[in-house]
Amino acid sequence: MLGNFSYYNPTKLYFGDNAQKHLGEELKNYGAKVLLTYGSGSIKTNGIFDEVMSVLRAAGKEVIELPGVMPNPTTDKLYEGVKLARENNVDLILAVGGGSTIDYAKAVSVSVWYDGDPWEKYYLRQEDPDSNLRIIPIGSVLTMVGTGSEMNGGSVITNHETKLKIGKIFGENVMPRFSILNPRYTFSVPLRQMVAGFFDIMSHIMEQYFSGEDDNTSDYLAEGLMRSLIHSSRIAVKNPQDYEVRSNIMWTSTWALNTLIGKGKSQDWMVHMIGQAIGAYTDATHGMTLSGVSIAYYRHILPYGLRKFARFATAVWDISAADKTDEQLANEGVEALLEWMKQIGVATEISSLGVTEDMLEGIADSTFIMNGGFKVLTREDVLSVLRESL
Ligand code: NZQ
Ligand code: ZN
Repeated sequence: MLGNFSYYNPTKLYFGDNAQKHLGEELKNYGAKVLLTYGSGSIKTNGIFDEVMSVLRAAGKEVIELPGVMPNPTTDKLYEGVKLARENNVDLILAVGGGSTIDYAKAVSVSVWYDGDPWEKYYLRQEDPDSNLRIIPIGSVLTMVGTGSEMNGGSVITNHETKLKIGKIFGENVMPRFSILNPRYTFSVPLRQMVAGFFDIMSHIMEQYFSGEDDNTSDYLAEGLMRSLIHSSRIAVKNPQDYEVRSNIMWTSTWALNTLIGKGKSQDWMVHMIGQAIGAYTDATHGMTLSGVSIAYYRHILPYGLRKFARFATAVWDISAADKTDEQLANEGVEALLEWMKQIGVATEISSLGVTEDMLEGIADSTFIMNGGFKVLTREDVLSVLRESL
């Protein structure tokens, strides 16, 4: 049964080849000063920077550049961006990049005119922006798919000093006002990053799927998205320039985490909690931290959600149920997931991400425990999943 919920998503999307042409229309809605934030420079080599700059210039904007947003953006970088945005009194933050850059833009947007420490308020204490706070609107031009940050309120920041990587879900007033989704912009993403993004998408869907055994529309939507992703990803790893599959994956990615498929049901998110703790210790690529622990995690919780795992096997992987127990089917589903992970080439062990035995206790301590999945994990459960994943 679907639980009660409200659903509103204010982000306007422009999707498709040449979608960036619509950027000019959107820019008319904001003042003259645009803070243009981006990563380590891939947009300068693939031509996206020039295209975006030409639209900004044509719109008569004064551009303040804020480059150097690293994968897994840090508190130090946040403070730097806040200072620059405040000094220049910017009207809009335009994030050009992947999840890190867009997450970062959200963090800056709610911190520019906040006088306290944003890390403590929004991330450690999980508070929302004060109602009278001036929030700088953000827009995004997406260059790498996976996180769904282009159409959600998520913002994940890492504090290396305290070894904590924490996500905050901001509300509608912080979500991107608009996002430009041109699948062609993702063609230059290196293969390893591309597949990490694919696994991130799969993980977002599974985190919302593996919980509850009731009948609800959200789970059917999730199954459709997983089937589409599995199909397209197998083609994309062989031919990354295939527009059809890259466009389908881009769209799947957005819907995997714009909160629709989690509506009206409980959600798990423990793979992400463990993955984030690994990220805080290793700075490893987000999608790989998830793939590294997923198989051990799902084997661990499978006995508590047998019916759902059996359904996963038949509905997502087309495994025949004939003459099989739920347990057999459930195990075959997880094996099919592992097989697909090997096909696309994501990490299946966390040792390959730099995790060593001596880090496991600390990672377990940094893991936030959620309670919406099939089993509420103890610290011992987390440790056992980590040991199995090494
Ligand atoms: O630094 P640049 O030059 O931009 O290079 C990036 C970066 O090195 C590169 N890249 C991106 N687009 C490219 C490209 N290289 C060539 N051509 C392009 N078109 O890819 C690398 C990774 O980029 P990043 O933005 O870090 O990747 P991703 O989109 O996976 O974002 C990861 C961050 O998002 C958080 C993660 O924890 C992590 O910090 N998440 C955000 C979520 C949300 N907002 O809801 C949910 C997710 O579960 C996740 O936690
Ligand atoms: Zn994720």
